[in-house]
Amino acid sequence: MLLTSGITQNIWDHEAVEAVVMVYGIIVIENGRMGSFQMIDHVACYIDPCFLWGVIIKGISPLMLNTKLRDVPRPTFIRDFVMEPNFTATLKSTKHLASNIRQLCFVCDDGGLINYIPGQFFKLGFDYQGNYLQRSYSIANCDEDPSDNKELLIAIAAVQEGKASQFFFHADPGCTVDVYGPYGMLLLPDTLPTRLILVATGTGVAPFRSMLPQLAKELVITNTSVHLLFGTRNHQELIYADDFRRFADVHTTFHFKACLSREVAQQSDEIHGHVQDALKLLQPNSATDHLMLCGNPNMVETLFTDLRQQGFGVKQVRQEKYVFAFR
Ligand SMILES: Cc1cc2nc3c(=O)[nH]c(=O)nc-3n(C[C@H](O)[C@H](O)[C@H](O)COP(=O)(O)OP(=O)(O)OC[C@H]3O[C@@H](n4cnc5c(N)ncnc54)[C@H](O)[C@@H]3O)c2cc1C
Ligand SMILES: NC(=O)c1ccc[n+]([C@@H]2O[C@H](COP(=O)([O-])OP(=O)(O)OC[C@H]3O[C@@H](n4cnc5c(N)ncnc54)[C@H](OP(=O)(O)O)[C@@H]3O)[C@@H](O)[C@H]2O)c1
Repeated sequence: MLLTSGITQNIWDHEAVEAVVMVYGIIVIENGRMGSFQMIDHVACYIDPCFLWGVIIKGISPLMLNTKLRDVPRPTFIRDFVMEPNFTATLKSTKHLASNIRQLCFVCDDGGLINYIPGQFFKLGFDYQGNYLQRSYSIANCDEDPSDNKELLIAIAAVQEGKASQFFFHADPGCTVDVYGPYGMLLLPDTLPTRLILVATGTGVAPFRSMLPQLAKELVITNTSVHLLFGTRNHQELIYADDFRRFADVHTTFHFKACLSREVAQQSDEIHGHVQDALKLLQPNSATDHLMLCGNPNMVETLFTDLRQQGFGVKQVRQEKYVFAFR
């Protein structure tokens, strides 16, 4: 829209920003205050988790901005922009994957298909204490054919005093939600690189689970080696680890590494530490590797910055941050 010149290459390299610019325009915020449309130099970018809008910011980190913006009213053109849900869905069943992680299974109310590309997420809309809220959740399905699927699986981690956490941890089968999407660009590259490194913390491992059937097909026709580094506090939070370990048993070029930050390692595919520790052991190489990062926004941001400093281009590192929503 307004941004045609003076933008750093970094920003235009970010596919998500391009999408936001095309559809919604960009608002400019300088030092945390809502400003008018204008160009500034040395900009950084921030994208709303729901991809409803994007901002170009200056002098403030994206995470700080996220916190500050919680109290700033959204500009009218964004508040007035009401998106219709793509469908409504009903909770069919629930299951505790860990004491603080609940898996929810939804079905489409009209009995239709729930299509997605592995790695994408849906936004769920629901009423909570008189307010309509929307929260994003990665698709945790592991379907052979994602274009012929009738259920939506999501894994939700309990966040202290979190509104969606309260809602979804107490939701009973029969409860309905609005579903928007699917969205997201954390997708497998069209051509797999020599080495693909998937890095997740917590429920951020869900999109990588949904990629397993696609990876299974790719791994028989390529020489790519795939490493999944999965960081959790303890063993019980290693959700879907059985799936990844089974996959590694069958596909010799797939390697699983659990990174336990608050418990000792118990078997050969585990280490004590963070995902960064496991990544260091792999000695990332910008000439051969492609990385995908998902989960805790601090982890994603730190790793992304480190990898950029090691010579990785923005297109070699795809990322999805599980940032909190504004309200
Ligand atoms: C693309 C995407 C995919 C996601 N996928 C998943 C998923 O698969 N599973 C999953 O569990 N989560 C996922 N999330 C996170 C999820 O959308 C919710 O943010 C999360 O469930 C918390 O929502 P809540 O309503 O419970 O918490 P909220 O009510 O939004 O917040 C909880 C607490 O955190 C505080 N807080 C809010 N924002 C901040 C901030 N920026 N910094 C510090 N404190 C803050 C609040 O004050 C409050 O005390 C995803 C997020 C994104 C953007
Ligand atoms: N600002 C935000 O928006 C924000 C912040 C935190 C979490 N979240 C979200 O809140 C939800 C619940 O989180 P969760 O229960 O899964 O826990 P979590 O806080 O994401 O922790 C999961 C694992 O990630 C590790 N971790 C935390 N920060 C890291 C970093 N900077 N680098 C590397 N590893 C790091 C933790 O290690 P430790 O033992 O060292 O903690 C733990 O092993 C998730 O959706 C999460 O992404 C959002």
